Amino acid sequence: MKHLISPLDLSIEELDQILTLGQSIMKDPQKYAHVCDGKKLATLFYEPSTRTRLSFEAAMLNLGGSVLGFSSADSSSAAKGESVADTIRVISSYADICAMRHPKEGAPTVAAMHSGIPVINAGDGGHNHPTQTLTDLITIKTLMGRLDHMTIGMCGDLKFGRTVHSLINAMVRYPGVRFVLISPDELRIPDYLRQEVLIDGNMDFVETKDLEKYMPELDVLYMTRVQRERFFNEEDYIRLKDSFILDAAKMQYAKKDMYVLHPLPRVNEISTEVDKDPRAVYFLQAKYGVYVRMALIMTLLGLEDSIC
Ligand code: CP
Repeated sequence: MKHLISPLDLSIEELDQILTLGQSIMKDPQKYAHVCDGKKLATLFYEPSTRTRLSFEAAMLNLGGSVLGFSSADSSSAAKGESVADTIRVISSYADICAMRHPKEGAPTVAAMHSGIPVINAGDGGHNHPTQTLTDLITIKTLMGRLDHMTIGMCGDLKFGRTVHSLINAMVRYPGVRFVLISPDELRIPDYLRQEVLIDGNMDFVETKDLEKYMPELDVLYMTRVQRERFFNEEDYIRLKDSFILDAAKMQYAKKDMYVLHPLPRVNEISTEVDKDPRAVYFLQAKYGVYVRMALIMTLLGLEDSIC
């Protein structure tokens, strides 16, 4: 049984198969409408979510399956002190697969150790968010036709932003990828990622506070919000929250064929005036998240070859 806890749980070949299947679903979703008839997805969300939970639910419903679950720790027996291990043992007899979001890093790993069904990490603390990475990759691949040989800028909260950590881990596996990491000093990527993934992996990267300077070099700009819920004090959040605001004036420095991605939710790091720029693809990205989650559910349930 396979789980998805980190993007590295998938080989490049498996990743490419999921993205290819997601693109096939995108072209003809109706063809897949009964692949998961009779199957159930449990969504165990101990932390708030709009896109990840609802896109997982939409994905399973689109495949003909059913969904059950909870959307906050308060509405589950976690509020009475039940452990993740006990919860997943029980859910394993209610559902065929589950997606779990938890504020504590490693909680989905613990769940996978005690689970009788595939566990998908839907975001654990500031650690990983592999299905957002699948969403990001299918967006880039669909729009640009490739995942290699590009300069990707990542801007905002690179310290706490788990989507950034997962995307770096995934993109380093493709040749010719250069990273421009744009953040205030306090929100630079974690040391382990810089040392073990970028430096030890001989990756081409630069860390900077100057978005405008590097804007003309970027093929993709991945904007992120400052993660208020992970700060220890409100003063630091208020001081840092508006460090980078992408607006129409800054977009003038960008290539004509650069794409702006954002995992969403947005707070104010992208001005709404940018939404009408054809290079702004974050809402399309959220839509593509459903197709790639359909592909992931099919793959983890062993149904990826059920439609020829
Ligand atoms: N991108 C993302 O994880 O959004 P939600 O927090 O709304 O699920």
